[in-house]
Amino acid sequence: MKPLELSPEDFRALAADVLALSVEYLSTLDARPVFPRTSGVETERLFAQGAPEHGMGNRAFDALPEVFAHSRVQNGRFFGYVQGSGDPVAALGDLVASVLNQNITAWRSSPAGVTIERTVVRWLAEAVGCHGFSGTLTGGGSAANLMGLAMARESRTPTNDRGIHSAGAGVIYASEQVHMAMPKAVALLGIGRENLHYVPCDDSYRMFRQHWSGLYAGMRHKDEGQWPWSLRPAR
Ligand SMILES: Cc1ncc(COP(=O)(O)O)c(C=O)c1O
Repeated sequence: MKPLELSPEDFRALAADVLALSVEYLSTLDARPVFPRTSGVETERLFAQGAPEHGMGNRAFDALPEVFAHSRVQNGRFFGYVQGSGDPVAALGDLVASVLNQNITAWRSSPAGVTIERTVVRWLAEAVGCHGFSGTLTGGGSAANLMGLAMARESRTPTNDRGIHSAGAGVIYASEQVHMAMPKAVALLGIGRENLHYVPCDDSYRMFRQHWSGLYAGMRHKDEGQWPWSLRPAR
């Protein structure tokens, strides 16, 4: 057998081990400390060895209990960010997605996957009152912000074909509380972080109305030869 191949029996046995660890983790989630008792030295010792010269086979999974033990726990006492605990149904879905390993570029590449994505996007659009809208799912918030900003820019000043230099300068308005993904996306799109204007917020983190009024913003920057491309609320 080739070194990277896994027999059906080994796959079944390893999957059972992973499942057992996952069930143990999820069923003790609430009792676990939010942050593992560990240190950088400890995690370097455990996880920063050199790349193995030879295939490890099933032993590649030996470190998995330590991975669980040295991960941050998203339970009801975790208030850090928006991240929740892993959803068991979604985790099984991730397994299937990896087993199928589809390419979602076009219907012919994945008839089921593409149709499911379109359907879920339609559901989400309908849930926020955007009937008939289409879109794609992204792997995270940074990619979503990048894509959203690119579309906002394209709708105001088409540059996809002729490049950003063919367009007039544009500005993005964002809450001063906006996620750091926004300045990153602005830089990646070549808009320039100096064209990202932060709108001050009140004590409840709401943008001050007089600052975010589209008319006010548009007129102010129109005078300076700039057009507002997008307005982004906090988070
Ligand atoms: C509004 C917003 N944008 C972007 C991100 C970044 O998301 P990701 O780490 O998935 O790229 C987050 C993550 O919390 C977010 O809340």
